[in-house]
Amino acid sequence: MCGIVGYIGEQQALPILLEGLKRLEYRGYDSAGVAVLSGAVPKVVKTRGRLQHLEEKLAGEDCPGTVGIGHTRWATHGHPSDANAHPHTDCTGRFVVIHNGIIENFLSLKEQLIASGHTFRSETDTEVIPHLLETYYQGDLVEAVRKVAGQLQGAYALAVICQDEPDKIVAVRKASPLIIGLGEGENFLASDIPALLKYTRRVLVVEDGELAVLTRQGVTLQTLDGRPVARQVLEVTWDAGQAEKGGYAHFMLKEIHEQPRAIADTLRGRIHPDGRQVVLPELGLTPEEARRLSKIAIVACGTAAYAGLVGKYLIENLAGIPVEWDIASEYRYRDPFVDDRTLFVAVSQSGETIDTLAALREARSRGARVLTITNVVGSTLARESDWALYTWAGPEIAVASTKAYTTQIVVLALLAVWLGQVTGRLQPEAAAEILAALRALPEQVETVLHQEPAVAEAATRLARHDDVFFIGRHLDYAVALEGQLKLKEISYIHAEAYPAGELKHGTLALITDGVPVVAVNTQEALKEKTISNIQEVRARGAHVIGLALAGDEETARHCHEVFYVPRTVRWLAPVLAVVPLQLLAYYAAVARGHDVDKPRNLAKSVTVE
Ligand code: G6P
Repeated sequence: MCGIVGYIGEQQALPILLEGLKRLEYRGYDSAGVAVLSGAVPKVVKTRGRLQHLEEKLAGEDCPGTVGIGHTRWATHGHPSDANAHPHTDCTGRFVVIHNGIIENFLSLKEQLIASGHTFRSETDTEVIPHLLETYYQGDLVEAVRKVAGQLQGAYALAVICQDEPDKIVAVRKASPLIIGLGEGENFLASDIPALLKYTRRVLVVEDGELAVLTRQGVTLQTLDGRPVARQVLEVTWDAGQAEKGGYAHFMLKEIHEQPRAIADTLRGRIHPDGRQVVLPELGLTPEEARRLSKIAIVACGTAAYAGLVGKYLIENLAGIPVEWDIASEYRYRDPFVDDRTLFVAVSQSGETIDTLAALREARSRGARVLTITNVVGSTLARESDWALYTWAGPEIAVASTKAYTTQIVVLALLAVWLGQVTGRLQPEAAAEILAALRALPEQVETVLHQEPAVAEAATRLARHDDVFFIGRHLDYAVALEGQLKLKEISYIHAEAYPAGELKHGTLALITDGVPVVAVNTQEALKEKTISNIQEVRARGAHVIGLALAGDEETARHCHEVFYVPRTVRWLAPVLAVVPLQLLAYYAAVARGHDVDKPRNLAKSVTVE
């Protein structure tokens, strides 16, 4: 996820670009850059670090010009660096491009371009675009952009300026957001509305597969095959705060709703088009090394740890490799057995959590190979690992983690399938079934989100209680752990998760009339067992909120209220089951009047032990 912005008009472009980027920093902030058309070649200034660094760098520069584009980056391909910051240019410096998204086929395009003499200066997927423009340009920028878009697979919102046609910006969209702002004698583009609110409230939303041409006088939209498109102008009524949250009341709710997109981005390019193979070139572990592993240690904190627990079950079952699962702050003090046949897997949204880092260093010093699954390219954990697999969830702002959790499970599932294939334990048909199920997840999460109003009502009732219990077995227990953590951290309701069969060994004493119990029951093979545990708590007066697979009337009959998740392979049910629990926690916190995005006593990134 990155932020893009563009301006063409009579005013100086630079201050408008910087103002827009400031409003888009929530979309990414590891590097930033601008390009302004002035002089013989477009002037490009870019740098690693936050926008403030860019402003400092620009302080000594002269950047006059009334046409320009700007970018704030959240790295996917290539760590945060000056060279990898956008904008990117071709060999001549005439074509300048900013991009939000992922070009899946960039490697093959890059090889072809290098073979035909192009010189690359960055590790990004984006840089193929200006070089392709250089190749295709024959005096018509729109035509060249159209041809280049035809070569690109993946997701993109991109904007192009060209010295040879200085009175236009050409932009094109596929899957990544892009809007146009309409002014008088000036026009704007951006990833999102907040960037433009200071200048205009008249907006055109560019749809997938559309190309926009911005001049000072106006904006035209067309399809990629050149057919004109008419679009109604949208009058934005949001204030700046609302706009930054995409119209949602809180970042957490926005991030819950971003999950379909985040999952799709995380999967992008990682499943072979034949639907049978996992593609993880970032993982340097060879199949021989994978077969030699004696065990895997998954270590993390908080929500990432609960995603890791799902990963443990998946890897053990699909790949037949024993997996230890530890909370990072405990790991290094238990004198873990580690050798050179151990693969240590750190899971961390931020890539900076000190306990996870300390555990990683401990495992490394004892000879383990180290893999990090993280959302932040170039983070400390990623840098200190042999390999990093990234979740492409985009920045997560709310302290309570949501889209990071579901995308972590997606990456762990990909890893489990890959390991299962190389160890030979997972049959090709079973692998294909899981991969197809992964691909279906974004749409299925969307379906779960449709139950939001009903979950919100249940949450409002739940908010009146002081103790809530969550139960489930196996993968459902892992989800229950995440559900109770969500509820605790933002609603401040005391919540505890138990393996459903364990409750009777003590905690059942706390179940009395009206105590809410959330029962997660999505694992077909364990359904009857969990129903027995539901009956146990009902017999003591519990109020049971069930989470069941679509069509599971049996579980529903035993619960006071029930929410459904679509059917998927059993391994992926946690990704769907967690969504109602996230919403339950969110609306309970709202009902209690809490600051949802910044819960008391908690921090997004914990860099102290
Ligand atoms: C903090 C955050 C949690 C997060 C945990 C681990 O406690 O509030 O949301 O799950 O740290 O963070 P990490 O960045 O390593 O995933």
